[in-house]
Amino acid sequence: MGHCNSLLLSLLLGLVSLSAAEDDHGFNFPVKKLIGDFNLFPPHDVNIARYPHSDVNKIVEKPLRFPNVLGSDDSALPLDDLAHRAGYYSIQHSRAARMFYFFFESRNSQEDPVVIWLTGGPGCSSELAVFYENGPFKIADNMSLVWNEHGWDKVSNLLYVDQPTGTGFSYSTDKRDIRHDEEGVSNDLYDFLQAFFAEHLEYAANDFFITGESYAGHYIPAFAARVHRGNKAKEGIHINLKGFAIGNGLTDPGIQYKAYPDYALDMGIIQQADHDRINKVMVPACEMAIKLCGTEGKIACTASYFVCNTIFNSIMSQAGDVNYYDIRKMCEGNLCYDFSNMEKYLNLKSVRDALGVGDIDFVSCSSTVYQAMLVDWMRNLEVGIPALLEDGINLLVYAGEYDLICNWLGNSRWVHAMEWSGQKEFGASPEVPFTVDNSEAGLLKNYGPLSFLKVHDAGHMVPMDQPKASLEMLKRWTRGTLSQPGDDVEKSFVAEL
Ligand SMILES: *[C@@H]1O[C@H](CO)[C@@H](O)[C@H](O)[C@H]1NC(C)=O
Repeated sequence: MGHCNSLLLSLLLGLVSLSAAEDDHGFNFPVKKLIGDFNLFPPHDVNIARYPHSDVNKIVEKPLRFPNVLGSDDSALPLDDLAHRAGYYSIQHSRAARMFYFFFESRNSQEDPVVIWLTGGPGCSSELAVFYENGPFKIADNMSLVWNEHGWDKVSNLLYVDQPTGTGFSYSTDKRDIRHDEEGVSNDLYDFLQAFFAEHLEYAANDFFITGESYAGHYIPAFAARVHRGNKAKEGIHINLKGFAIGNGLTDPGIQYKAYPDYALDMGIIQQADHDRINKVMVPACEMAIKLCGTEGKIACTASYFVCNTIFNSIMSQAGDVNYYDIRKMCEGNLCYDFSNMEKYLNLKSVRDALGVGDIDFVSCSSTVYQAMLVDWMRNLEVGIPALLEDGINLLVYAGEYDLICNWLGNSRWVHAMEWSGQKEFGASPEVPFTVDNSEAGLLKNYGPLSFLKVHDAGHMVPMDQPKASLEMLKRWTRGTLSQPGDDVEKSFVAEL
């Protein structure tokens, strides 16, 4: 990605794409994807279906039995006793949108917390996480499913949704349902949650946590704030929101874009002279552009996306073929990662029948959804977080240390810069080892409801690179024992008794 368009050209193209996303021409041009570039090639770039449906604000769900599941799991509950479900929710405040989701009952206990996972992109399907990160199964090359020893369903009742509309198996018959901002995204997620818990009251009193990765660093704080607002206003079912976790996320672009050159220099993928040049020319331009964007700018926000991404492009033109999700790796040809088994598997007739998706296409990453969200990209989502912390809702920010695109340094900086009542104490808290199997799996900082974890030996997708450590992280964090010393949750409970 060594080519750098002139700023003006980029800006013009950006505005064209923005208006294209908002009208009905379906005009498309290639944008170099950043967070969503996983070399997937869905046949269509967004899920706009031809036939309408009439259910509104309704869940249509079916028991899910994936074909070709191999062997059995080591857990106490056999597969036949586990509730696995796939469903569609007809989004209440939409014209004709349906949101696809998976639900996997905990392999441990129905009383475990309910955890929802959101994949980023924007516009990439959460099935990426289901099959390559923290879901119950992995896809073998021969299209069998094998149990994931470290699936997050070992300690939680796990929900995955395809969103925003147009992503994965989620679709609409009306292009006006494509979302452009966090207000639309968070309202749809909140509406879904209300409908899901109404359908499954048996889980409504469980602890509830929001998790996700990458561009979900935008979705997650917005969604958490939406749930909290709904609870306070006594809208619908009370949702027992206990915390939200952001993995290698983009949350405060002003701070995070500025951190790119520093991280790249620290990691030796650019030279000092490049670093200084970027800092002198591109960083100030980006800072100014972000100021104009603020929290609700429109054209200024899209413009700042192009201005600020000159920083990233400039680093990549020095770094060469390095995989920007994991700088220890190179991109072989075009393939930084190969997730093509997922598309192959999800297009099998037997699988599609099991999911109940009819003839809806699977859109692994939607370029239309991506472009429609460009106006949202540079907005600062940190601003809503302090109010949540003050009300005792927990935040975990974690980051694999070898990811460039949403690197730990930028994340650590915004977490430290965030103004809230515990800011000073958090800053003064010691960094302690996060230990799994008696070895250091990361470095943890915690004060009150706020935790930051730098995960060793991992890139952008922590549950893929460090499955066991990520499961331990989720388990301890959701049980409130993340900052306790020691290795094993059970052991530390025994010690307390
Ligand atoms: C498919 O692959 C899995 C995992 O590699 C293996 O255990 C299984 O035996 C294979 N199944 C067939 C039918 O080849």
